[in-house]
Amino acid sequence: MFRILVLGSAAGGGFPQWNCNSAACNLARAGEARPRTQSSLAVSADGEHWFLFNASPDLRQQINDNPPLHPKRDLRHSPIAGAVLTNADVDHIGGLLNLRESTPLVIHATGRVLATLRANTIFDVLNPDFVERRRMTLGQAFEALTPDGAGAGMEIEPFAVPGKVALYLEDPEAGANFGTHEEDTVGLHVRSRETGSHFLYVPGCAAMTPELAQRLSNAPLVLFDGTLWQDDEMIEAGVGVKTGKRMGHMSMSGADGTIAAFEGLQVGRKIFVHINNTNPTLLEDSVERRAAQAAGWEIGFDGMEISV
Ligand code: MLT
Ligand code: MN
Repeated sequence: MFRILVLGSAAGGGFPQWNCNSAACNLARAGEARPRTQSSLAVSADGEHWFLFNASPDLRQQINDNPPLHPKRDLRHSPIAGAVLTNADVDHIGGLLNLRESTPLVIHATGRVLATLRANTIFDVLNPDFVERRRMTLGQAFEALTPDGAGAGMEIEPFAVPGKVALYLEDPEAGANFGTHEEDTVGLHVRSRETGSHFLYVPGCAAMTPELAQRLSNAPLVLFDGTLWQDDEMIEAGVGVKTGKRMGHMSMSGADGTIAAFEGLQVGRKIFVHINNTNPTLLEDSVERRAAQAAGWEIGFDGMEISV
């Protein structure tokens, strides 16, 4: 059985976002809407070793808020065995910096994401003598290992999903896709060889393809990109100039939206994560939240615990 903790359910910036004076962000500041930290999960197959799925800039708070991640023995210890990264966005790698000090860890990421970590030498504060970086290959399942080399009961297969290279790596000269490569955005298919249980984690996705639909079909659990409710919502709200499509995210609603795309896929539990602070489903009494729930979706929240 997998235990999955949603450490952070918001997209980049969190909810409230530091510089956002919107009505919704102010509700979150006033305690009238549930605040959310940035996008990350912790996953364990044995209840002892935990893997971060993405490391958000809010990781320090997320560890403090989640007792399973507190040190259990000795003067220096962490149940966090490693991190698995799905892209190089700030909200997914910034938290690695919280893991400095000499605690053994294994970081799993694609060659493209590892190249970004390498190019930004501040990440070398994760002492290379203790923190191993392992390259994951699209379509190839690997066993997540604890730092002492033992199996952690978790097999992870990364697969490419439509997306966009991280904002700060966009190449304006490279045409419509800004130089995006298929290793830039991945989903994770996580399986237990022992029990056969499995789930999928896709926190960023620009479009539903037939291959992705097939992969998601009949899964018992999917945690999926819930960035926006509708493509132009940041423009409508007056807080930005970009559409969801421009940012590499499909939206929840609409004919080409996520809710419609999952119809007929027979997914057991469908949970939105990576939810932007403009998304009206963050507000418990919104019609949009009711519509998502009526379509069988759950709105992820910080501290949500799921077993599969
Ligand atoms: C995204 O998910 O689109 C990015 O995290 C946005 C950002 O870099 O702020
Ligand atoms: Mn993001």
